[in-house]
Amino acid sequence: MRPQLLAVTSSLLRSTTARLYPSSPLAPLSGLILGHQSLAVKAQPQYQAQQQVLYTSQTAANMSATPINANSVLDLIKNRRTYYPLSKDLPISKERISEIVKEAVLHVPSSFNAQSNRVIVLLGADHEKLWDIATDILKAIVPAEAFQATADKMGMFKGAAGTVLFFEDEKTVQKQQSDYPMYADKFPGWATQSDAMLQFVVWTALEAEGAIGANLQHYNPLINERVAAEWNVPSDWKLNAQLVFGGKTGEAGPKSQIPVEERVKVFGA
Ligand SMILES: Cc1cc2nc3c(=O)[nH]c(=O)nc-3n(C[C@H](O)[C@H](O)[C@H](O)COP(=O)(O)O)c2cc1C
Repeated sequence: MRPQLLAVTSSLLRSTTARLYPSSPLAPLSGLILGHQSLAVKAQPQYQAQQQVLYTSQTAANMSATPINANSVLDLIKNRRTYYPLSKDLPISKERISEIVKEAVLHVPSSFNAQSNRVIVLLGADHEKLWDIATDILKAIVPAEAFQATADKMGMFKGAAGTVLFFEDEKTVQKQQSDYPMYADKFPGWATQSDAMLQFVVWTALEAEGAIGANLQHYNPLINERVAAEWNVPSDWKLNAQLVFGGKTGEAGPKSQIPVEERVKVFGA
């Protein structure tokens, strides 16, 4: 990782960790604890029965110990690319991966704060099982003469270290639709948008850790039933994407870009 990125990542990590986990060993490194409050709060109307935790928001201005501006965030965003093949060598622990995913799930926004995103992280033998399942299913539908290429591709994913499965909870979306009929046709799309934000954040955060690469796959709905049976996935969880991650084995491929002037217009003084 470039030194600048490393500094930004560790400063983001320290400030976030200090804020959310004041007792974490990382907290003292930041030199301050940013007004964390953990309160059981009056649940929001759509989640009357659910106890939720309230996090106080921090403005950039009062995060003086960890100066972060848009360039810090954009550097992390530019650092995220698609990588394959990936290896089983991870520079971070299983616990750290889990922490990154949980932090992303907690802080990615959702419409009306519905919190419809659901995630399963597969590591080791469970990760390999996923790609064996995909291979089995594809073998039944891909023409025999084309199957070797498919098998090689599945083998490539299996050779990585883990896969993050991204779901949206359809029960949550249906509850939104009945609570707010005026927006009923919008909620499914908004849930997918929130899940896409989560995918992007997890992808970006994992690659910010250094030698980790990832690529995004979509073998749903083909694999949905077998995945649900294998990992006891609730029936309301709809699989949207699979983020394969592991050690980088090379550079990201070239990427063309349409001139940004054709894609962004700015009006006004
Ligand atoms: C919504 C979405 C769907 C994608 N689906 C796949 C996919 O099914 N398989 C794959 O290998 N890459 C997939 N990608 C990765 C894109 O091909 C890749 O992000 C794009 O070419 C830009 O390259 P970069 O990720 O290196 O910036 C997907 C990306 C997005 C955002």
